[in-house]
Amino acid sequence: MEKRIYNFSAGPAVLPEEVLKEAQENLFALPGVGMSILEISHRSKTFDKIINEAKEDLRKLLDINDNYELLFLQGGASLQFSMVPLNLMKNNKADYIITGSWSKKALKEAKRVGTINIAASTEEEKFKRIPKQDELKLDPSADYVHFTSNNTIYGTQWHTEPGVGNVPLVCDASSDILHRKIDVNKYALIYAGAQKNMGPAGVTFVVIRKDMLERSSDSLHTMLNYKIHVENASLYNTPTTFGIYIIGLIAKWLLKNGGLENMYKVNFDKANLLYNCIDESGGFFKGHAAKDSRSLMNVTFNLTTEELEKKLIAEASAAGFDGLKGHRSVGGLRASIYNAFPPKGVEDLVSFMKDFQQKNG
Ligand SMILES: Cc1ncc(COP(=O)(O)O)c(C=O)c1O
Repeated sequence: MEKRIYNFSAGPAVLPEEVLKEAQENLFALPGVGMSILEISHRSKTFDKIINEAKEDLRKLLDINDNYELLFLQGGASLQFSMVPLNLMKNNKADYIITGSWSKKALKEAKRVGTINIAASTEEEKFKRIPKQDELKLDPSADYVHFTSNNTIYGTQWHTEPGVGNVPLVCDASSDILHRKIDVNKYALIYAGAQKNMGPAGVTFVVIRKDMLERSSDSLHTMLNYKIHVENASLYNTPTTFGIYIIGLIAKWLLKNGGLENMYKVNFDKANLLYNCIDESGGFFKGHAAKDSRSLMNVTFNLTTEELEKKLIAEASAAGFDGLKGHRSVGGLRASIYNAFPPKGVEDLVSFMKDFQQKNG
């Protein structure tokens, strides 16, 4: 079998080896079915079972009650930037909290639909931090408040949801969904592109509170209407059958390994190991995010010069650590250590970084 290297990519990202092996083993023919998941009809009993089990397992993992519907859609999280305002704006006004490039992209689409109040933005501080509750200028009559729970590019993360009173809370959780248990009851809608913590690219997971569906107007284009997708149980058109199958396997992998409580512990320890290495380097490595806003999923940092950064990335890449180059808008380095990233990979990266510092510091 081909040797695997450490994949620090921000997404599509590393998936659990057990899941890849199971998918590989069963790709030729699903046990007892005699056909590949790539070949079966989305209207078949086999696929019904796959999609329903995936939903049930996700409900278990996140304690999602019957007040919510679960959807698997297409068009990426980026299409949700449009679907959220098109469906949820009743009085054509919403609050957006801007904590990075993805929030800005969500804002751009929302502005096409209604009047947007920017409740807070940390752009002037290069998105180094998450705004504090008392900085939020929320409009109590807004149709909803939108925020991005984890800022993939800047490496910042909300550690608790913004308090928004009775206004429906909408979250882009693309890069930290399932990394810990959250109280779904605080949200009206959560969406996430699957390709970081949930599965392969091509599927978008949406959790929507049932009362929100009343807002979806019949005049909306069919494929943009949450109500239609709910009425058709995500099967209005041909869904990403393979992606949903892999999400199902990942949900089972999480359940088998102690659920999200255990996942959070593992994630916390992995991130701490890396942040400690940065903090104890005497300034050789410097974290981008403010300490109280640090992400457990994307660790962003710089070295003292760009030359050193390039050198580290090149040497790391040669040593089997792939995908450490920071996003072009921030520069520096970024280690994405999502759920499936192995703790041993973080330990090995830390040893590599210490060794690099010794030789170049
Ligand atoms: C937080 C966040 N939101 C949205 C997106 C866009 O997702 P997609 O490529 O699925 O449209 C990304 C992609 O990296 C992301 O990290």
